[in-house]
Amino acid sequence: MFNLENLIRENIKRLTPYSSARKEFSGAARIFLDANENSFGSPLSVRYNRYPDPLQTEIKAKIAELNNVKPSEIFIGNGSDEAIDLLFRIFCEPRKDNILICPPTYGMYEVSAEINDVLINRANLTEEFQLDLAAIAKAIDKQTKPLFVCSPNNPTGNAFARQEILNLAKSFNGIVVVDEAYIHFSSEKSLIDEIGNFPNLVILRTFSKAWGLAGLRVAPAFANEEIIRLFNKVKPPYNISQIAQEAILDALKNGERVKKTITEIISEREKLIKNLREFSFITKIYPSDANFVLVKTIDAEKIYKFLLDEQIVVRNRNNVELCAGCLRVTIGTPEENESLLKSLRKFTTETQRTQSF
Ligand SMILES: Cc1ncc(COP(=O)(O)O)c(C=O)c1O
Repeated sequence: MFNLENLIRENIKRLTPYSSARKEFSGAARIFLDANENSFGSPLSVRYNRYPDPLQTEIKAKIAELNNVKPSEIFIGNGSDEAIDLLFRIFCEPRKDNILICPPTYGMYEVSAEINDVLINRANLTEEFQLDLAAIAKAIDKQTKPLFVCSPNNPTGNAFARQEILNLAKSFNGIVVVDEAYIHFSSEKSLIDEIGNFPNLVILRTFSKAWGLAGLRVAPAFANEEIIRLFNKVKPPYNISQIAQEAILDALKNGERVKKTITEIISEREKLIKNLREFSFITKIYPSDANFVLVKTIDAEKIYKFLLDEQIVVRNRNNVELCAGCLRVTIGTPEENESLLKSLRKFTTETQRTQSF
C-alpha cells in the first residue's frame, strides 16, 4: 500500500521551512521595509530591486487553467533539474535508499542521485527500447523510493504506453516520476490528468522544449497537493527570478504560437526522417515522439567529427548503453536540417572517394 508518510525522510518531516519576508506578507502596502531590499532601485531601466513571488502565484493560476488542475497541484522549479534534486532530498536517505532508472535515459537522474549520495538500481530498456517490466519488478526493493520513467524518452525518442506507466504506478509503493519534457511532440497523451487518481505520480514538464524557453530555466511539476507541499517546504525561497516569472507570463499569452511551432517541428521531424533514409551509413532510424531523432550509424565517432568540422553539432551517444553507433539529432529549422543533409551528402562523397584510393 502506498503511504506517503512512510516515504518522507525524517529530517524533512521535522523541518521548519524558511519563512521569507514575501511569504509572511504578500499583500499591498505603501512602504516595504521588511526584506532588506534596496529601496533606491536597480542600475537598469527596469526595476528588479524587489524579491519575486516565492510561490509564483500568477503563473500557477494560468498553468492550472491550461492543464485542468488546481494551482496547489503545481510546483515550479528552476529547470526540471530542481524538481529532480528535490525528489532525492525529500524521499531518499543517502547511502540507504535507492532510485530506479531505465537506461538508456536522461542522465540527470543518475547525476542527481550521485550528488545526493543515493544508490541507483537499473532496469535497462529492452533492445526495442521498451520498458522491461520483469527487470523493473526485479530491481525494485524496499528501499526504492522514486522510479523514473522518461516518456518520450531521451535519448531513444520513443514514448511508452500510458497504460503501462499507470500499471507501474498501481503496483509500486514508491513515487513514480514521469518526465514529460518532450510530451508535446508525442502522439501519446500526457498523464497529468491522472494525478488525482494516483497519489504517487509526479509529472515533470519544462518550458525548455516545446515552449522554446530553455534560457529562462522554468519547469513545472504536477502531483497531488501533499507532494507539492513537500516540494515547497524544501525548495529555496525565491527559486524563480522576477525576470523569468514575467517572461513566462508573457509567453503563456502566446500558446497558439507554441502550438504552431510544435506542428512545424513534427512536420520537419518526419521530413528529416524520410531524408535520412538515403544514407547507407545510417543503418537504423528510431521512431521519434520527441523533437529529436536517434540514428544508428556504422561509425558514430567519424560522422560526429565530420559534422563538427562542418560546424554542425549533434549529440554523440555512442558510449551510452544500447546506443552503440548512435547519434542524436535535434530537429532544427528547415534551413538547419537542409544544411545537415548537405553535410551528410558531403560525408558520403568524401568517404566514397577515400575508399576508392
Ligand atoms: C528528459 C529530459 N528532462 C528534462 C530535461 C531538462 O529540462 P530543463 O531544461 O527544464 O532542466 C531534459 C533536457 O534535455 C530532458 O531531456
